[in-house]
Amino acid sequence: MRLAVVGNPGNRRVALFTAAVERAGLPAPEVHPWRDVLLAGTVPGPESTVRIDSPGEDAEVGRLLRELGSGGPVRAAEHGEITGSADAHAGLARALARIEAGGGHLLNRPEDILCMSDKPRCHARLAAAGVPVPAALPGPIRDYASLRSAMHDAGWSRVFVKPSHGSSASGVVALAAAGSRIAATTSVELSGGRLFNNLRVRRYAAEADVAAIVDGLGPDGLHVERWFPKAGLGDRVLDLRVVVIGGEPGHVVVRTSRSPMTNLHLGNARGDVAAVRAAAGEAAWSAAMQTCARAAACFPDTLQVGVDLMFRVGWRDHAVAEVNAFGDLLPGVLADGRDTYQAQVEALCSLSRGHHA
Ligand SMILES: Nc1ncnc2c1ncn2[C@@H]1O[C@H](COP(=O)(O)OP(=O)(O)OP(=O)(O)O)[C@@H](O)[C@H]1O
Ligand SMILES: [Mg+2]
Repeated sequence: MRLAVVGNPGNRRVALFTAAVERAGLPAPEVHPWRDVLLAGTVPGPESTVRIDSPGEDAEVGRLLRELGSGGPVRAAEHGEITGSADAHAGLARALARIEAGGGHLLNRPEDILCMSDKPRCHARLAAAGVPVPAALPGPIRDYASLRSAMHDAGWSRVFVKPSHGSSASGVVALAAAGSRIAATTSVELSGGRLFNNLRVRRYAAEADVAAIVDGLGPDGLHVERWFPKAGLGDRVLDLRVVVIGGEPGHVVVRTSRSPMTNLHLGNARGDVAAVRAAAGEAAWSAAMQTCARAAACFPDTLQVGVDLMFRVGWRDHAVAEVNAFGDLLPGVLADGRDTYQAQVEALCSLSRGHHA
């Protein structure tokens, strides 16, 4: 088996996957930088078993994706600036098509990656398979006015507004609204008419600010869900990131927060899995793990996915916030003594033994 990774060479996932491969006694994977895929069109090719990793966290790769998607030059984004996510997604589709055309055994199916990075599509796929998800407003919602009128029609006063092609809580707004009384919680910072991600989650109470944020995000597409009241422990709400590898939910991180956004890079804290499991009870816990497996089964040709699972206050019920194509970075979390990367290498070694048997 000749392993290859398409990724950003400085990325921690690439390093940890490489380490897991070497630890299994296999030759180190060939790394194909996204930059080269996008600039020179180099792709792994038919002899390779290919892990496609995140193109994120690299400003130049981000710009190249947006250019590929829009078909022309784009303005360089400033650090943290939220811009061009629809173009970046279109560019990713083209780049993945090139990789697919190059052949090889792809460990994550391009079509699945694209679905998972398109929140309305991912939500629709999960809902169609009977996986519990929060209710969503029918789209398209392109600005603040259409958001408020769709909320009014649905009779909802509390929603989560998410950029269709976002990740890491970028552009996510938790919104409670009644007439012109409004409270929005988000990591978006408004500055000079542009939108930036900020590591500090802030609250906006002025309708004009919230309207400016939603109007700024709208043109790239929005997915709006009813606010699901998350269960918590103590004074923190929580959700789970569950990595499902080869159909098995094994690695779990609890993400806890005093704000409605639990993402760990926002200064939130990991919680205690055993404490959550005890609070939920065995029946609710195993139902939740089954839901994660069913969510992953919506992407059957993809080796691993990261499912975000929310328990409802009271623990009787749960819903999937989304499924992530690049959600397996859970440093230090082991299942059966293996981290998420070792578990993937193990799964693909047993796959290839199966093929040759
Ligand atoms: N409908 C909802 N109701 C309540 N909370 C929600 C809802 N949808 C998402 N959240 C919360 O919002 C945060 C970000 O959500 P989500 O995972 O959908 O977006 P993301 O930007 O792709 O983040 P991630 O990097 O975690 O995948 C999480 O804390 C999640 O629990
Ligand atoms: Mg995500």
